[in-house]
Amino acid sequence: MKILLASSEVYPFSKTGGLADMVGALGRALVKAGHEAAIVTPLYRGIRERFPAIRPAAWHFDLPLGLERVQAELWELERPGEARIYFIEQPDYYDRAGIYLENHLSYADNAERFIFFSKCVVHLARYLPWRAEMVHVHDWQAGLVPALMLQEKRAGWGNPPPTCLTIHNLAYQGVFPAAAFALTNLPADFYAPDGVGTEYFGMLNCLKGGIVFADSITTVSPRYAREITTEELGCGLDGVLRENAGKLTGILNGVDYAEWNTTNNPHLFKPYSVTRMAGKKVNKRELQRRVALPVAEKIPLFGTISRLAEQKGVDIQLGALEEMLNSNIQFVQLGSGSPEYERAYRDLAARFPGKVAVQFGYDENLSHQIEAGCDFFLMPSRFEPCGLNQLYSLRYGTIPIVRATGGLDDSVTDFVQNAGAANGIKFFEYTTRALAKGIRKALAIYQQPGLFRKFRRNGMKADFSWNKTVNEYLKTYQGTLK
Ligand code: ADP
Ligand code: GLC
Repeated sequence: MKILLASSEVYPFSKTGGLADMVGALGRALVKAGHEAAIVTPLYRGIRERFPAIRPAAWHFDLPLGLERVQAELWELERPGEARIYFIEQPDYYDRAGIYLENHLSYADNAERFIFFSKCVVHLARYLPWRAEMVHVHDWQAGLVPALMLQEKRAGWGNPPPTCLTIHNLAYQGVFPAAAFALTNLPADFYAPDGVGTEYFGMLNCLKGGIVFADSITTVSPRYAREITTEELGCGLDGVLRENAGKLTGILNGVDYAEWNTTNNPHLFKPYSVTRMAGKKVNKRELQRRVALPVAEKIPLFGTISRLAEQKGVDIQLGALEEMLNSNIQFVQLGSGSPEYERAYRDLAARFPGKVAVQFGYDENLSHQIEAGCDFFLMPSRFEPCGLNQLYSLRYGTIPIVRATGGLDDSVTDFVQNAGAANGIKFFEYTTRALAKGIRKALAIYQQPGLFRKFRRNGMKADFSWNKTVNEYLKTYQGTLK
């Protein structure tokens, strides 16, 4: 099958979160399964310098965007065993310091930037000699693609391929003032409550457009697929999602074990595996050294890596740590995002010197070292569509402590669910107390080496490889083709 993927982030070219990991890995998994996959993504600043093999594809875009026309060039990269990558070069839009924002402020022209991107995707789907049989778009940034394709069909595109929309996070919908609708150049009938307009008019909602017009919708875990049809987690789109429930499925993300492993990983201080765990101690020691915590093998080390956003449960995490740091534990965190949360973490570090290490900014290398060096990994998310860090933690023998929501609930097994297969700790209520109790459970497990080893072993043996995930996507694609 020929599949065209479209995403505003693709690892290793650009990344702010799990979306990039997922799309990069899906492309690779499709190729490995014997299909042809290509990924379209913007050419952001610095990509060409980091990947000098990128070549011009001799393709010029000149597309309407509202009353203007916007030009762009196409670049491409081929790598053995990987999906071909098409990059949209539009320097005014994408040659910037950030992907979506700078100095904590979203770019004012994000509607232009990503509506234009979506138009380029549609143009490639229609005119590339390599004819996609399936167009699979990700999140709001490419959410208008299905609507734009429908319009092209009305305007003479004989037989456009079916579309699939994956929702990685319903909290980000690409909602813009009504004036942005003009940028789509879609006829007015698309801008209705059952189209790309918000239910109460007044706004353009890019993700909603995808939900309404895509032939199939997936989200990144079965539980999140159920949750988003409820008022509590539907972010205002639960009604539309319920109406479209027939085409919605939840598919748990896989892990790209070629990137995220402990045996052949340039980021780690020492390799280790389920049968040879000694190396994990070295990673703990070197992590403590690197983040300037006292080097102490016996002190349980908790870690977290995340975008500092409300979604991630930062408030209850700060509260629970405040309480638990009076015991003999250490905590290391890596994150970037809200300045208020950064400040709160700095305060915490100042109050518990020698126990708390906080690092801000984006650091791929340190993220692997935290996964490998910690004993426990905290993910107390308010909601979590899938979550990848708990999956990485399992493979790295770092026991995840998670709130039972979305993909966290689908991927971690706790003692109560199945004592023999337990690989993590779950708590339910979104409260400081419930998380603190989870941390206390972790300390109890840590005190029982046999049990601790068993949790670790169960986690490291769990298989979240892409083989299974990719088949579910293929089934979804085939379903839409029928
Ligand atoms: P989300 O996509 O909601 O941020 P996920 O758990 O799916 O959550 O994926 C987050 C990804 O981003 C992981 O690969 C994680 O390691 C990475 N990540 C998040 N914050 C940072 C950071 N500050 N530095 C390096 N990697 C980070
Ligand atoms: C989103 C979600 C996260 C998910 C990731 C990849 O960023 O917040 O839970 O793992 O997408 O699908």
